[in-house]
Formats: sequence, structure tokens, C-alpha cells
Amino acid sequence: MTQRERADTGRAEGAIDGHPIFAAAYDRLGGIGEDFLREHRRYLARDLHGSVLDLGAGTGDMFPVLARTAESSGELSIHGIEPDPHMEKRAERAAREEALDIDLRLARAESLPYPDESFDTVIASLVFCTIADPERAFEEVHRVLRPGGELRLLEHVRASGFLGRAQDFLAPAWKVVGAGCHLNRNSEALLAAARLEMTEMETIRAPPPATPMIRGTAVKRS
Ligand SMILES: C[S@@+](CC[C@H](N)C(=O)[O-])C[C@H]1O[C@@H](n2cnc3c(N)ncnc32)[C@H](O)[C@@H]1O
Repeated sequence: MTQRERADTGRAEGAIDGHPIFAAAYDRLGGIGEDFLREHRRYLARDLHGSVLDLGAGTGDMFPVLARTAESSGELSIHGIEPDPHMEKRAERAAREEALDIDLRLARAESLPYPDESFDTVIASLVFCTIADPERAFEEVHRVLRPGGELRLLEHVRASGFLGRAQDFLAPAWKVVGAGCHLNRNSEALLAAARLEMTEMETIRAPPPATPMIRGTAVKRS
């Protein structure tokens, strides 16, 4: 965005148009799915070392597991980006509540404010469904990862058969209600086309009526 455009929209650099109602609802209701998600969040935060980026931190739902991992592993440098100012404000509060030492920035995954090869691990939890330009975001993740570094992701994806067609039908309305979320995005196929090498991928059966989910790891080869 140019300086001029920024002046016209009044938006901070790196920010998207915020969704205050979605942010408040996600903050309050997000906990409903956490019993199911906890195990998968632990998968994302397992054995971390060095420098870690939480991509699209939202209201900070990864922070409790990140705080525990940081406690047990000692020397972790934790960073996060979130482009929606309403979500980011809540994430700042969540970090204080968890006493998590995190450098949070208002930024988009398509334009990460870090030098090349800054991170050992990038964590993406339920975020590639919402990123406006996921191909560009995978490129950015590749750029900021060190050789041998990992992207770990957890995403809901398009189902096959009738459920997939129902997702296609609901997707336009869902995008409005879900602050830009693409209900039927196939993030696994997008990752497969990216410059990262998928080393683990599994489909997770979420409790009905939730859509299928995937979790996996992809490595940056030098
Ligand atoms: C469903 S929330 C997930 C939040 C959190 N990662 C979690 O596990 O609960 C999706 C988040 O992606 C953020 N987002 C939207 N567009 C983005 C972009 N271009 N780059 C990074 N994050 C984005 C949204 O603002 C929102 O906070």
C-alpha cells in the first residue's frame, strides 16, 4: 500500500480492514472448540527451538501452549503477526494474561516484516483459509524460514462429496460472516504447489458439523 493510499484509508501499515464484531465473537466463543483443538495446538508447538513465528495470531489462542513450550524449552524467541487491529489488541491482552514474551506486529502474511531466514518454525493455525493471497503467503513463509526450518499448519479444508458441495454453496455467505474465511479452500493443494516440502500431513476428523481438517509439517530445503 502506498503512503497516499494509507492516508486515504486511515489504516495502519500492515493492517487490513478490521472486523470488530468477529474479533469479539472469536474471543468469547473461540473457547468452545478448544477442547478438540488443544491436542492439535500441542502438535504445532511441539519441540520448538530458536525463533518462532505465529502467523495470523488472531486473539492469541496459540499463546497458552506457546507459553508452556517456552517455559520448558528455555531459549525461545517468539514473534507473531496479525493484520486485524481488533484481533491484535485482544492478542496483546492474551499475551499479558499468559505472561508470554512475544513480539507482536500488525502485518499480513503476504508481506512479512522480517529479513530472509529469520525463523526456525512458522506456525499457521486456522489462518490460510482467511489469507487473501495464500500463494504469496507461502512464498513469504519460505523466504523467512531458515534452511531446514518448518512450517506447521492446522487448517479446515474442503470436504469431498455432498459436504464439499454444501461448503461451496455456503462459502460466499461464510466469507462475510467469517471475516474473509474461505470455507471450501483446499490449503493442502496450495501447500503442495508451494516451494516447501511436505513431510507430514494427516486428515483430522473434527466433530460434526465441523468440516474436515488437516494438520501437517513442511520443510524448507535450502
Ligand atoms: C480464524 S482466525 C485464527 C486465529 C488463530 N491463529 C487461532 O488459531 O485461533 C484467522 C486469523 O487470520 C487473520 N488474517 C486474515 N488475513 C490475514 C493475512 N493476510 N495474513 C495473516 N493473517 C490474516 C485474521 O485476522 C484472523 O485473526
